[in-house]
Amino acid sequence: MREWQARYNARMPLCFDLFTLLPDVCVAYTRESILKRAQESGLVTIQIHNIRDYAEGKHLTTDDLPYGGGGGMVMKPEPVFAAVEAVLGGGPERAAAPDGEPFVETQAEARPAVPVILLTPQGRVFTQAVAQELAQRERIALICGRYEGFDERIREHLATDEISIGDYVLTGGELAALVLVDAVTRLLPGVLGDPTGALDDSHASGLLEYPHYTRPPEFRGWKVPEILLSGHHARIEAWRREEALRRTYLRRPDMLAAANLSEEERQFIAELAKASTEARAHE
Ligand code: 6GU
Repeated sequence: MREWQARYNARMPLCFDLFTLLPDVCVAYTRESILKRAQESGLVTIQIHNIRDYAEGKHLTTDDLPYGGGGGMVMKPEPVFAAVEAVLGGGPERAAAPDGEPFVETQAEARPAVPVILLTPQGRVFTQAVAQELAQRERIALICGRYEGFDERIREHLATDEISIGDYVLTGGELAALVLVDAVTRLLPGVLGDPTGALDDSHASGLLEYPHYTRPPEFRGWKVPEILLSGHHARIEAWRREEALRRTYLRRPDMLAAANLSEEERQFIAELAKASTEARAHE
């Protein structure tokens, strides 16, 4: 049985452990809206751990100067390893280490199945497919960095995966971790009131979403498309699919290659392409 099926059948939550130097920022977001309700329903747990609680010395230092010089500060390895190992278990087997030998690595056996994800602009890019992959897990640890970067040993010996949320630079990993927690939680069975809600979302189907309208039927002279008021469900479905295709073609043609389209839908796209080529010829 798959990990998530066992978890769902046993009514077990997906457990996030978020390691950060800014716990308040993370707590604030996870206390609202869907994340709040998902936690109340027992579908997820989100534990937020302050890395500084695992720092040592009078000043509880979590950063230091880079070896070799250069600007910026680097996140120290000790507090990050200590925090993750205190929560997930594992870490060096001090007692078993022979005299004079370095620590024996045991973290791999101690937590075989828990991904430890470093949020960094150098990671693989987060997409809906990655969210779906992570929604299958039982437990996920997320490490948020501040400063210019992590000591490389965190990357090499603690993290099992590195994720970026896009090609731009943020001040820290917290926003990225919250993006990931939000996108993954929405995918868990039972989180959204409407069980098909997550399927219609932009990107879930591989297409952008069709346009939405609500009351009033006319606002400042702008009318809701007639078909949506017709009550003709099959025609409404067909209209929505075409609008989703049109919108994806116009805004994100790169997504069409990977989308699951029928022969008819491919034909529709070909017509859109032909129409826009002709329109350009008349310019
Ligand atoms: Cl995960 N971290 C930071 N600092 N910047 C980013 C990012 C992550 N993803 C995109 N930009």
